[in-house]
Amino acid sequence: MMTCCRRKKGNSLSLSSQTNLCLSFASRPSTFGSMFHNFCYQKLNLDWLYLPRQLSSIKQLAGALDAVRGLGIRGCSLSMPFKEAAIPFLDQLDPMADSIDAVNTVKNMGNGILKGYNTDAIGAERAFEHLNLQGNIALVLGAGGVSKAVGWILKNRGCRLLVCNRTLEKAEILAKKLDAEIVPWQERNSVCGDLLVNCTSVGMAGQEELPIQEAAISKFNSIFDAVVMPRETLLMKEARHKGKHVISGVSMCLYQAAAQFQIYTGQMITGPLMQELQLRVFA
Ligand code: ATR
Repeated sequence: MMTCCRRKKGNSLSLSSQTNLCLSFASRPSTFGSMFHNFCYQKLNLDWLYLPRQLSSIKQLAGALDAVRGLGIRGCSLSMPFKEAAIPFLDQLDPMADSIDAVNTVKNMGNGILKGYNTDAIGAERAFEHLNLQGNIALVLGAGGVSKAVGWILKNRGCRLLVCNRTLEKAEILAKKLDAEIVPWQERNSVCGDLLVNCTSVGMAGQEELPIQEAAISKFNSIFDAVVMPRETLLMKEARHKGKHVISGVSMCLYQAAAQFQIYTGQMITGPLMQELQLRVFA
């Protein structure tokens, strides 16, 4: 049951044993989730708190998910590299997460039941909603949890998918699942298509490189980069410079977090709050 939060003067949180807790688990936690969720709790006056935690192994993840059950933690978000590894430790899967075979949101349903959802796919659907993708050729770089969700949406929107990943075995698994063709990683620069999708971590802060040669960007009409930190990746900069249609991962990230917020708290994030989040969280 949701409770309203008692706040001290100045809007600071008054935490207690009744405060609802959500966590996020990642090998390299970012501040995005805690900024997004805690900002919304404060705006909606909810007695909730969201904290990121760093995990370094699947064994640790299993223990952390048991703690979510045992301590009545309301839910947890999963980031790289736990979106697939968590599935065997969950009790139920939402049909979309089951079909995608990756989970980024876990809700504690009570009685020790943990249910997995995939809100990356919901975010990706929103990010691509303005494009007519029917019959488009999309090259997806990466074969991890984000690639699975984005690839699933692109396939459902009628794209012909080409999957390309540094580790070929993972590309093969994803390609089979999505009925896609495989492009070997070393051949990615020679592909022509409509949409280039980067779902690798190449381009993230600390790894600020292009995932594909600069000249190869010209072979596509539109570019989507799932990387959100930095906001404007090298790939996005080069694509804009070449006059390409650029879709930022920020919209996918915001909409996936809004869907996650609704799963955890039951509350919808309104348009005005979404606009505020865009300005405040991604300032
Ligand atoms: P996420 O949940 O964000 O998708 P992930 O499942 O760990 O995270 O997937 C990360 C993706 O980035 C993988 O496709 C990974 O390629 P491998 O399967 O070969 O590991 C890709 N990736 C990470 N670093 C990379 C690099 N330096 N060059 C190319 N691909 C890279």
